[in-house]
Amino acid sequence: MSVNARVEISHRGDVVAEELMDESRRKFINTCLGGVAALGATAFAAVSYPVVRYYLIPPGDKNNKGKINIPLDVLVAGEARFFEFNGTAAVVVKKQDGSLAALSAVCPHLGCIVQWEADRQDFLCPCHAGYFTADGAVISGPPPRALTKIPFTVINGVVTIG
Ligand code: FES
Repeated sequence: MSVNARVEISHRGDVVAEELMDESRRKFINTCLGGVAALGATAFAAVSYPVVRYYLIPPGDKNNKGKINIPLDVLVAGEARFFEFNGTAAVVVKKQDGSLAALSAVCPHLGCIVQWEADRQDFLCPCHAGYFTADGAVISGPPPRALTKIPFTVINGVVTIG
């Protein structure tokens, strides 16, 4: 990197020296600052999305001694419904064949909240690209074990989880 120096003499005869940054140096610094800002925004989005999503989803019936009741007919085949269970994130999936799975939504790697990928019919942990089947088994990535299963029953059209 080079620095250009400009020397001027004012109308009173004083010498005024001004160092000017080379244009390429200025561009380099601006590029670095822009890159840092972009990385920060991406990291923030990756971490905050699951948290925001988790809190936007209704927690279900909390007044049933730690159990969650969900009407069976609100569950759509191929979709997942997230909820709060005993103070943490959980999810129930109605698979394409109509069977259900109730799981902790907390990734066993480092604790991020998984996301349902309806087009792939699996879960993605956005933190380190861990993938799980709809039943919670590890497909790939760093998670050391499956998502924890939560017991549930289906009685008279109501899914009771916990
Ligand atoms: S926290 Fe889920 S893959 Fe790392």
